Amino acid sequence: MTRQEKFERHKKIRELLHKHGKEILSSRSFILSHGFIQHGDMSVYEHSINVADRALRINRFLHVKCKERELVRGALLHDYFLYDWHKDGKDKGNVHPKLHGFFHPGTALKNASRDFVLTPREKDIIKKHMWPLTIVPPLCREAWVVTLADKYCSTMETLGLHKAKIKVKYIDIPEQD
Ligand SMILES: [Fe+2]
Ligand SMILES: [Fe+2]
Repeated sequence: MTRQEKFERHKKIRELLHKHGKEILSSRSFILSHGFIQHGDMSVYEHSINVADRALRINRFLHVKCKERELVRGALLHDYFLYDWHKDGKDKGNVHPKLHGFFHPGTALKNASRDFVLTPREKDIIKKHMWPLTIVPPLCREAWVVTLADKYCSTMETLGLHKAKIKVKYIDIPEQD
């Protein structure tokens, strides 16, 4: 693949991310997740965008035929738990600090359902993305793709192979109501 083709592919993915993720990307709570570290030096905000980006690539280039809007929205919200999971902060939402891996999909789903109108597919993505920890497997292909994209991104971030590089591009904090 030439550099130009790579550039075009990257541009297309970013356009899809903006088109389908607009509502979430511009919401105050999502933007504030930039303040919570996920893995390494990567914030939850950057990690979620990376996962949505990777999920789109897997879908497009492996021809999985996912519904892209739901894929992007579910991926962006999969870790919408809105607390620092490294700190024991029961008052701040980290109710099970030692069991974050098991409990955060439920918290993310609760928060996302409160802030956005979700489809059943988007809910399944958020609820099942930690499979096999969730025991019940994903029910739709979109949830399988996000589960895979999340594991890939988490591994790369933990190993330091994905560096935080999304700067303030998406950050335009709306006024609080
Ligand atoms: Fe997660
Ligand atoms: Fe994640």
